[in-house]
Amino acid sequence: MTDQWWKQAVVYQIYPRSFADADSDGVGDLRGIIGHLDYLAGLGVDVLWLSPIYPSPQDDNGYDISDYQNVDPLFGSLETFDELLAGVHARGMKLVMDLVVNHSSDEHPWFVESRSSTDNPKRDWYWWRPARAGLEPGTPGAEPTNWGSAFGGPAWEYDEQTGAYYLHLFSKKQPDLNWENPEVRQAVYAMMRWWLDRGVDGFRMDVINMISKDPALPDGKLPTGRAYADGSASYIDGPRIHEFLHEMHGEVFQGRAGLLTVGEMPGVTVDEAIRYTDPAREEVDMVFQFDHVWADRGPDPWLLMPLQLTTLKAIFGRWQAGLADVGWNSLYWNNHDQPRVVSRFGDDSAYRVESAKMLGTVLHLHRGTPYVYQGEELGMTNAPFRSIEDFRDIEALGQYTDAVTKEGRSPEEVLTVLRARGRDNARTPMQWDASPQAGFTTGTPWLAVNPNHTEINAAAAVADPNSVYHHYRKLAELRHTEPAVVDGDFTMLLPNDERLYAFTRRLDQTELLVIGNFSAETVRAEIDDAAAWAAAELVLTNTAAPTDDLTLGPWQAVVYRRMLSR
Ligand code: NOJ
Repeated sequence: MTDQWWKQAVVYQIYPRSFADADSDGVGDLRGIIGHLDYLAGLGVDVLWLSPIYPSPQDDNGYDISDYQNVDPLFGSLETFDELLAGVHARGMKLVMDLVVNHSSDEHPWFVESRSSTDNPKRDWYWWRPARAGLEPGTPGAEPTNWGSAFGGPAWEYDEQTGAYYLHLFSKKQPDLNWENPEVRQAVYAMMRWWLDRGVDGFRMDVINMISKDPALPDGKLPTGRAYADGSASYIDGPRIHEFLHEMHGEVFQGRAGLLTVGEMPGVTVDEAIRYTDPAREEVDMVFQFDHVWADRGPDPWLLMPLQLTTLKAIFGRWQAGLADVGWNSLYWNNHDQPRVVSRFGDDSAYRVESAKMLGTVLHLHRGTPYVYQGEELGMTNAPFRSIEDFRDIEALGQYTDAVTKEGRSPEEVLTVLRARGRDNARTPMQWDASPQAGFTTGTPWLAVNPNHTEINAAAAVADPNSVYHHYRKLAELRHTEPAVVDGDFTMLLPNDERLYAFTRRLDQTELLVIGNFSAETVRAEIDDAAAWAAAELVLTNTAAPTDDLTLGPWQAVVYRRMLSR
């Protein structure tokens, strides 16, 4: 095993709350995951990433942690966790934890102490500021900056006890930790070492490129029609971010082998990503960038923009080229914050199976480590939310309130966007079988199961050799057996085509051609060498084999392989 073993790996993300409920309380748990480890091993994935399972008031479904070194009773106990970890390792897989240290819960003892008095030793562990000069503390507009929080409302909460405000880039129950304070950093590193000593294999680091803030905290620019400004210029890839991540590497990862670290980094640029993932700089192995999942988002968040395939290709092309020589990409369509990709970029009705497989093929054949989000391997779709009452996500509810009550949007226009883009689309329970609660729970699920589980479910998919599940299994197998998938150079073809996504991968004498049809039309790929390619070995496709002139049927994907002469 090389130290860059993760280049050949496929990661599978589990959102524990929605995966499998063994104790019938309607919320998924660790025992539920243990019961499905053979399913995951059968899919051929190498690493499991667990979204947070730590004690938490669950304001943001566990991304608000009140104890970093324990398991929430909702999910189980440390003993059950050890059993899970052993079960994962016994099947030759690894387990990566979610690390949420841009903020803690307001119920974490660190924050409880911090807010208790201005001279508490932990006061400076969070970002406390007085009201804006000349304004009455606690009144609207008196917040220290004009920044909005990601979940609606201002990014500051007034705390009467000490007459000051604390910063929360997310909910008011998620106060931001002050990484300027070395005691905070040492406490986080100690906690990380504790988990590694327990046997976990790495971390997915939540919004980690936001931990370094410009201590001046200047106002942001207020877009017209919006209630709050965007402060991100002061905290995305902030002044000391590389110093902090390098320090973390030295304090936590140095001298330990076989780990995976991936930083979630909204707004990260290619140039910054090269710095974050250059192995010589010792920061993180790879980052989650957001450009491709923002490709169908315009300046107005409440207007749905159709995807331009040329835009998507330009984005991926830029990232593939940028990290070609130094650093490494992570590849994802889905996670617990994104709508289901088959509904977003595919066709979730007539061509659901074909388009889900096509999307998986195109993604997994890029250079980088692919991530599969639970249910993606089944082609799970967005959910039929009727009204705002059907949503549970703090982001959807907070943004709805701001848009409707503060910005004068109509409820229907906001709902249209939430139905298409809301995070709860990803969070409906995993569809295990066709039974009433999809085999997820025998109780009442915390979020309604998608009624289409009678057709789309794991039991049916495992039994059907032509399912999306078996296609994802083949994609993992191809990565494990074809070195060109892992290490091959990437060349984008047909950048101006709005229907076909085509590229080649090349390693030594092996060349792969990948084409995905992002449309329901039949399209011929006008590429150089088409006749020769059509005669090459067809390694993988998702429908009937194409004709001999590279004409692809609706939502078809093909992967060809040929050997070049020296
Ligand atoms: C990113 C996580 O993926 C998301 O679910 C969460 O709400 C925010 N960070 C805040 O932790």
